[in-house]
Amino acid sequence: MIRLGVNIDHVATLRNARGERHPSPTFAAKQAMRFGANSVTIHLREDRRHIKDRDLFLISKNKKINLNLEIAATDDMVRIALKFKPKYVCVVPEKRKEITTEGGLNLSKNKNKLKNFIKKLNNRKIRTSLFINPKLSDIKLAKLIGANCIELHTGKISNKIKKGANYKKEYKIINNSAKFAKKLNLDVHAGHGMDYKTAKILSNINEIEEFNIGHFIIGESIFNGFKKTIHKFKKILK
Ligand code: PXP
Repeated sequence: MIRLGVNIDHVATLRNARGERHPSPTFAAKQAMRFGANSVTIHLREDRRHIKDRDLFLISKNKKINLNLEIAATDDMVRIALKFKPKYVCVVPEKRKEITTEGGLNLSKNKNKLKNFIKKLNNRKIRTSLFINPKLSDIKLAKLIGANCIELHTGKISNKIKKGANYKKEYKIINNSAKFAKKLNLDVHAGHGMDYKTAKILSNINEIEEFNIGHFIIGESIFNGFKKTIHKFKKILK
């Protein structure tokens, strides 16, 4: 059974549109766990455009929530992670002007910085993951940097599948990447841009142990409800 991580950033986006308290990301995190999510992801961005510090404070207080905190590799963020001690941390690249996380980390450029960053988290027994493009050289670097897991960026294949285009090449790249990472003893996760169809296709890759899905789940929940949407994903990932 592949684990499902539910990203609830866009519950905060919706809440922030009115600047009030509803819908509550904390409640969404609790409900996601109740409905069968294996973990809940929040991305505390530098510009705090969706998840705010108060959300992290409230969600991390609840030990029934397996929290996966997405952060950029900055001094400020490592300080925050060590303070709130989420169960998992996923390191992502961050650009101010991007709409969403557009690609994986540049590991070769930031090797030493990331090594240091990961070490601090590993020392506190926080599971660490690096969000990377499906590329063998980056997987080798992720191992060298000392991460426990990699999360493969699935944006490209997801776009192709949604457009009805031929995605064979991207599938092969992700498949080879997952197999190579597993050989290096890295846990393999996947995320970005996924919907039911992408999840179904990528669930055929046995080495992928966790999917992290956000935007589609929150959007689909408007029509079908949060519970039904999570249940449908759980069924696909069986
Ligand atoms: N995984 C990571 C590392 C991400 O940065 C994101 C987007 O915030 C996701 C998964 C989820 O992507 P989506 O919202 O497109 O499902």
